Amino acid sequence: MTSSLSSSNRKVAVVTGSSTGNGFETSLLLAKNGFYTYATMRNLDKSTRMKEIAKKDSLPLEVLQLDVTDDKSVTNAIGVISSRHGRIDVLINNAGYDAFGAVRLIKAVIPIMRKQRSGIIVNVSSIGGLVGVPLNSAYTASKFALEGFSESMKYELDGFGIKVILIEPGAVNTNFLETLEAQKAMNPDSPYAELSKKASEGRREAFKQASSPMQVARVILNAIKSEKPNTRYLVGNDAAAIMERKKNSSDFELELWIRDSLEGKGFVRK
Ligand SMILES: NC(=O)c1ccc[n+]([C@@H]2O[C@H](COP(=O)([O-])OP(=O)(O)OC[C@H]3O[C@@H](n4cnc5c(N)ncnc54)[C@H](OP(=O)(O)O)[C@@H]3O)[C@@H](O)[C@H]2O)c1
Repeated sequence: MTSSLSSSNRKVAVVTGSSTGNGFETSLLLAKNGFYTYATMRNLDKSTRMKEIAKKDSLPLEVLQLDVTDDKSVTNAIGVISSRHGRIDVLINNAGYDAFGAVRLIKAVIPIMRKQRSGIIVNVSSIGGLVGVPLNSAYTASKFALEGFSESMKYELDGFGIKVILIEPGAVNTNFLETLEAQKAMNPDSPYAELSKKASEGRREAFKQASSPMQVARVILNAIKSEKPNTRYLVGNDAAAIMERKKNSSDFELELWIRDSLEGKGFVRK
């Protein structure tokens, strides 16, 4: 690493789940915008492309192993970063699809941010953390938990100069859909088989209008650069349409609209 890349006046950012999708683009965008970025991933075999780009563009970016489900891996990674820089300015909790990894990272990073009396924690949630959709109960529950956790934590951390931001993407064109579909491969004899087929078709339709991971990365960058960031940032027209519906509908009306949207139409403004 050259001295210009390791200069101590850069803000230090840690991104989880950087091997693909939103984490990949966010890591690169943060580094391109001057953050000394730790692009962390659980499997370093997937780091080749990231390293090539960082080297070619002389980006202030390093790849580090970090599995968000593993206490030791989290402690090691945060320990390495903290001992090198003595600070962590931004944590982007992006990895995986459940909330527990984010909690583990936040617990590891908060003492450092509290000591420096500043910091930004970005939790990548989902529009599925604000509105439940069919046959997604575990994911939805986890993202709702991340929403509540973030909202409550804000009050505790505010006094230490630590900000907490939620990112709420709708459909994004990453590996996410294929991973979800593979997890949901349904036994045709299941009592939910018919609903599952319909939900899967609805999801595929919705993903035809998906945002790009670069859009998510840009929203994250703008949020962390903001003097007074919002609590939540939506990403995508679908997310905006769903929230608009939620705001202007009764629970019953919203449910009808979601059922209707699954009939092959996707979530569109009507
Ligand atoms: N795509 C969407 O439509 C969408 C919509 C709303 C919200 N989001 C959120 O966006 C975030 C990123 O997802 P994505 O869309 O970019 O999907 P993705 O391309 O599947 O990326 C998921 C990333 O998480 C990593 N990961 C999984 N388990 C991990 C663990 N235990 N430790 C460290 N990393 C782990 C994966 O690493 P491996 O490569 O090793 O598997 C991968 O880098 C997630 O929080 C997701 O809920 C996505």
